[in-house]
Amino acid sequence: MLETDELQASLPQVAMPLPGPEAKKILDKRTENVPSAVLCNYPVVINRGSGAMIEDVDGNRFLDWVAGVGVMNVGYGQQRVIDAVKKQADKFFHGMINITTHRNYVDLAARINELAPVNADKKKTMFVNSGAEAVENAVKIAKSFTGRGDVIVFSGAFHGRTALTSTMTAKKTYSYGIEPAMGGIHRAEFPYLYRAPKGYSRDEAIQYYLDKLQYVFEQGVPAKQVAAIVIEPIQGEGGFIPAPFEYVKALRKICDENGIMLVADEVQTGFARSGKLFVSNYWKENGFAPDIIAMAKSIGAGLPLAAVTAGANIMEGVQPGIVGSTFGGNALACAAGLQVLDIIHDEKLTDRALNIGKIASDGFKDLQSRYDVIGDVRGIGSMIGVEFVKDQTTKEPYPELVSKLIKHAVSHGLIMENAGVHDNVIRFLSPLVVTEEQIHAGLKIYEQSLNEALAEL
Ligand SMILES: Cc1ncc(COP(=O)(O)O)c(C=O)c1O
Repeated sequence: MLETDELQASLPQVAMPLPGPEAKKILDKRTENVPSAVLCNYPVVINRGSGAMIEDVDGNRFLDWVAGVGVMNVGYGQQRVIDAVKKQADKFFHGMINITTHRNYVDLAARINELAPVNADKKKTMFVNSGAEAVENAVKIAKSFTGRGDVIVFSGAFHGRTALTSTMTAKKTYSYGIEPAMGGIHRAEFPYLYRAPKGYSRDEAIQYYLDKLQYVFEQGVPAKQVAAIVIEPIQGEGGFIPAPFEYVKALRKICDENGIMLVADEVQTGFARSGKLFVSNYWKENGFAPDIIAMAKSIGAGLPLAAVTAGANIMEGVQPGIVGSTFGGNALACAAGLQVLDIIHDEKLTDRALNIGKIASDGFKDLQSRYDVIGDVRGIGSMIGVEFVKDQTTKEPYPELVSKLIKHAVSHGLIMENAGVHDNVIRFLSPLVVTEEQIHAGLKIYEQSLNEALAEL
């Protein structure tokens, strides 16, 4: 068995057809005991992780380009996180913030207030447990502050699986059969430049999507009734689609003119993924910061933690009792969160996100130049989507190819996940501590698996 540091520097190696014997036992037990609606199509049962690598219960080694879906930006097995959580565990696990205040909660809130690029000088932060809760609370805060009840979200959006956030989520797979949906949610068209009307220039396409938003105000809900516009700076589940900055700038202006809160759902994009701590840092530098940021996933390096940050005036405008949570801001999770911020700073993970993102995206663009099934390669920093199509002109999605490609890649030790309303995008969401050698090894497996998948179709 490899030492932990050897695992961290190792390359993928799968020595048997998957699942291996131990993994099969656990997967069979899973099938017996866990609802199949909690989906999983991967034959991988993790035993331990280090950096960007995971080892399964049969000793196979995988390079993980999903990172728990954007949770492990600082990498598996970060010693500083482990030590901080152990130290906290020796003292106490839980101090419910409505009853006993604990230091980690307050310290982490203060650190995030220093760093989160919302549209305010004085900020406040509250913690919850998951991305969905962060978005749901962001909406509650916007509603309570503005005294308005309606919200605008986007085509392709994913905001979670609670009653409110599954209504906000675009894809009906997530809410079919659990109706009625929550009221007051209106959907605008996300500025998906690759699929803008044919022949439009970038500027024309952005104007086209802004006009679509105006239709929502004209025919869906008057702007003066809208509490919040909630947008993912780079759509995640929707297909790794960056919202063009020009569009967000216009959105900011519309929000300012109409007293609407601009909410950035940075659940998947946050914590150095984009080459900045948040994509909203790019927005703020360009003069169009959001009012509220919902964050989760990589904030806790695998412990359940999420947060909402807004200007103090907005947070203090919320009726007492409207927000809160028993476990939100748990002492162990906040201990991890404090380390995450230090690791991002000390290991310069924002710079790393740009470096490894460039290597990966150059690799994907090279594949695009040689394989006409790749329609688009896009992203910011290390959040990169590769969109597969049957035809470059019609842009017909190619989900069959993507699902085969993923299966082959996993069998060779590369874990990848699809995205997109049509499941025809593959995401690059590797831990930011991945080595260059590992990225090149991953790109090799990617191409080999693409060839194998194409040969089957
Ligand atoms: C942008 C975005 N918002 C919200 C969520 C929901 O987060 P959670 O699964 O932690 O509730 C996700 C999860 O993938 C997400 O990507």
